[in-house]
Amino acid sequence: MPGGACSPASRPPFTAPPTDDGDHQMPGPVAPPADGGDLEVPGLDDAPDLQALDAACLPDPWSVEGWRAEVVAGDRRWLVVRDGGRVVALGGLWLAPDAAHVLRLAVAPARRGRGLAVRLVTGLVGLAEAAGRPALTLEVRASNRAALNLYRRLDFVSHGLRPGYYADGEDAVVLWRTAPTDATHDAHGR
Ligand SMILES: CC(C)(COP(=O)(O)OP(=O)(O)OC[C@H]1O[C@@H](n2cnc3c(N)ncnc32)[C@H](O)[C@@H]1OP(=O)(O)O)[C@@H](O)C(=O)NCCC(=O)NCCS
Repeated sequence: MPGGACSPASRPPFTAPPTDDGDHQMPGPVAPPADGGDLEVPGLDDAPDLQALDAACLPDPWSVEGWRAEVVAGDRRWLVVRDGGRVVALGGLWLAPDAAHVLRLAVAPARRGRGLAVRLVTGLVGLAEAAGRPALTLEVRASNRAALNLYRRLDFVSHGLRPGYYADGEDAVVLWRTAPTDATHDAHGR
């Protein structure tokens, strides 16, 4: 099946129910990433839009109630892009103790191929680092070439497969992105 959830919440322990511990995100604009883009933190009023976009892009959409819980959870970080007030792209993280896990990433079909996913993931990397999680990870369907290309372009590396991870039996590719260490820089700090 093309497309597919990054890390379906129905498959613990790779994701966890949202919790209220930690700092809540304040809805509104956030500082744009270096390559530009109007990224915003969604609020409770966005839950119906988030659910509709989720359902248009992924095979296992969450409910409106589930989205409400997600946007106020202290251990989540969500970003959206809007057009005309409507959410056209979304992406989010679970701040797990070990790393930031990418939970969802979706761009409305009519808005694909314009760099929105790159902007979102770049923004999420910044939020993860700000929260003390320099490493990001996710699972993606082995058949999802668009997502695999996207993440490889953004320095995510394959760490193997989770056989039969998805409900329909498809394998997941496990991807990790770690911040460059000093050892990877040359004497000039490059
Ligand atoms: C995957 C997805 C988020 C990409 O969104 P997007 O905004 O179109 O992506 P971008 O325009 O930022 O593209 C960035 C890179 O991703 C890769 N990519 C995106 N779409 C692609 C496609 N159809 N085929 C191959 N590579 C693709 C390319 O490497 C691209 O870089 P390039 O334009 O320099 O070639 C989008 O297709 C989507 O929402 N898919 C359904 C949901 C999904 O699969 N989510 C990911 C779950 S982990």
